[in-house]
Amino acid sequence: MAPLIELNHVRHAYATASGPVPVLDGLDLSVNEGGFCAVVGPSGCGKSTLTRLIAGLLIPDAGEVFLHGDRVRGPRSTVGMAFQNPVLLEWRTILQNVLLPLEIVPGALKGAAAIDRARSLLSLVGLEGFEDKRPSELSGGMRQRASLCRALVHQPEVLILDEPFGALDAFTREDLWQTMHEVKEKEPFTGILITHDLRESLFLGDQVVVLSGRPAHTQFVLDNTRSHRPTLDDLYTPEAAERLAILRHQIEIAQGRIPQEATT
Ligand SMILES: Nc1ncnc2c1ncn2[C@@H]1O[C@H](COP(=O)(O)OP(=O)(O)OP(=O)(O)O)[C@@H](O)[C@H]1O
Ligand SMILES: [Mg+2]
Repeated sequence: MAPLIELNHVRHAYATASGPVPVLDGLDLSVNEGGFCAVVGPSGCGKSTLTRLIAGLLIPDAGEVFLHGDRVRGPRSTVGMAFQNPVLLEWRTILQNVLLPLEIVPGALKGAAAIDRARSLLSLVGLEGFEDKRPSELSGGMRQRASLCRALVHQPEVLILDEPFGALDAFTREDLWQTMHEVKEKEPFTGILITHDLRESLFLGDQVVVLSGRPAHTQFVLDNTRSHRPTLDDLYTPEAAERLAILRHQIEIAQGRIPQEATT
């Protein structure tokens, strides 16, 4: 079976007034259908650029990006995105914010069916009863839950999350990690999660990809496949400690703090 998301030797540079800024060079990534790939790497190494390439908002200078075996040549409605800042529209209620993609995506649910879909997602993430509130009336964690519903409402096959929990406190973040697993069981998607939090990458990812410093290539891939849905306790097992140590070590290499040779 071909991977649902595949990047081969991707290279990308931004054109700026002072010349090209190389951001990605030699990036490979492969996510099977239903997989959840966590991506970690030094700040500024090109993680958000990677999400724009998968979403078709940018086209690489070299290399290929495939979704379902089709070369990505522009934005697609089969992709949903959520970011660190939920950017909900204050003049719309929470329900109306979640409905937004259905108003834009051609052929999407309309009318009562759309409202039912949005309500059932809000209920799935624990926001039943908040449908008619405005974004400013919700906590940061609740806004992020609503943003997740908006990213999923049109049933995208690919969900891209760019540090969605980065601005939340530790306990709220852990609650949302568990919600993510519940959502994924009921609303299957193939996911990419960008994060700075190594524990988060292990809790949510079935693989963790470590990017090198800029221009980023795929430096290391950790297979984190599990036979059961993890609990928070699983993060405190000796096996998890060992995986965290491996990832931390790889990040230090990516940051240039340890030479690559020291690992072999
Ligand atoms: N539109 C742009 N034009 C020029 N340079 C850009 C543009 N967007 C990003 N960059 C540069 O490309 C590099 C990678 O940016 P990107 O946002 O992809 O990194 P990141 O890994 O997501 O960073 P962070 O961890 O801080 O979120 C940075 O050096 C950034 O300054
Ligand atoms: Mg970023």
